[in-house]
Amino acid sequence: MDTALDLFVACLPGLEPWCAREFAATGLVPADSVREQSGGLALRGDLHDAFALCLHLGTASHVLVRLAEFPCHHLAELRRRCDRIDWTRWLPRNARLEVRATTRRTKLYHSGAVAERVELALREQLGPAPEPATDGSAPLAILVRVEGETVTISCDAAGAPLHRQGWRLEGAKAPLREDLAHALVLASGWDPSMPFVDPFCGSGTLPIVAARIAAGRLPGEGRTFAVEQLCDFDAERAAALRGSVAAGHREVTVPIGAADRDAGAVAATRANAERADVAAALEVVEGNWRDAPGLVDPGAVGAVVSNPPFGKRVGDARLVNLWQSIGAVLGRLPEGWRLALLSADRRLALRTGLPLKTAFLTRHGGLGVRAMVRGAAVD
Ligand SMILES: C[S@@+](CC[C@H](N)C(=O)[O-])C[C@H]1O[C@@H](n2cnc3c(N)ncnc32)[C@H](O)[C@@H]1O
Repeated sequence: MDTALDLFVACLPGLEPWCAREFAATGLVPADSVREQSGGLALRGDLHDAFALCLHLGTASHVLVRLAEFPCHHLAELRRRCDRIDWTRWLPRNARLEVRATTRRTKLYHSGAVAERVELALREQLGPAPEPATDGSAPLAILVRVEGETVTISCDAAGAPLHRQGWRLEGAKAPLREDLAHALVLASGWDPSMPFVDPFCGSGTLPIVAARIAAGRLPGEGRTFAVEQLCDFDAERAAALRGSVAAGHREVTVPIGAADRDAGAVAATRANAERADVAAALEVVEGNWRDAPGLVDPGAVGAVVSNPPFGKRVGDARLVNLWQSIGAVLGRLPEGWRLALLSADRRLALRTGLPLKTAFLTRHGGLGVRAMVRGAAVD
């Protein structure tokens, strides 16, 4: 039986090419079957592939499994068509569900009514929902999209967004999402044989992401995924995959340095690194960014990957001075060092005087932000 389904790997806008590169490096599903689209990657795969993608991808935010797609012109037809689909093939009896609908350019514009019709059809086949969970576990998210006269119904294979990997519980000022941090690390051109430094580490997201890559740990290792609740899911195969991933863990031998002048940020970095199982790999210093381990007396060619303060006000003199000094210090690093800096303000990044190119543009904390890199493979 052909168990292949349409899968969609969703990511932050702007991260698609980095998600595609990360995907290609996993070798999971033939890369030529993948189409890069706005907001993510479309491909064919089964439920195990959806699970493996959740486990492997650090730049993705969700993996959607398409359960049904059909033409539809009005609400009564929506219900009739949903009744004709055998939902018990995927969804367990009495499953806790959360049905969400979005509509675009359609006569079925009332998203609440669309979600209600789908939920009624699902409940009729699956039986009543149990009492709300007391263990904090999320319901299965069923996403209904109506575009024109086409209805697409998908299940979110991830559950909680993939960037919630489980270790970044302590935040400092404006912590980066793990998926954005992962994309910045990839865009820097750093590879796990090189030293890594984040001199403005905040809660430690960037150096922890790098240390986990160097340690052979996958982004999703510390959590479970909604797809594991689906009927056709092969739990034994998934356990075998988790086992082989765990067997590939290795000791981190390259220096991974971090600094922050804020004691709370340093404590958060240490606690997060502990939870991420990479505390031993990180050297974290409380102090000025210039004293970050790896920047003082740099040895082998490495990478500086960081998210220095960029403020919200354009032209803040203190920030301009800071970015100029960053440029002066990083500009003196030996030939070959990779640099990747995240900024909301391109002009601020150019104050470094470094030949930086834009690797991607995305959103962070309600702002448009830009990854500026030197020495990396940017098309
Ligand atoms: C935008 S935050 C970094 C957030 C971090 N990427 C994260 O995911 O949590 C910038 C950090 O730079 C630190 N910082 C600002 N000026 C500094 C300086 N002169 N030396 C060292 N750290 C500094 C701040 O304390 C703050 O934690």
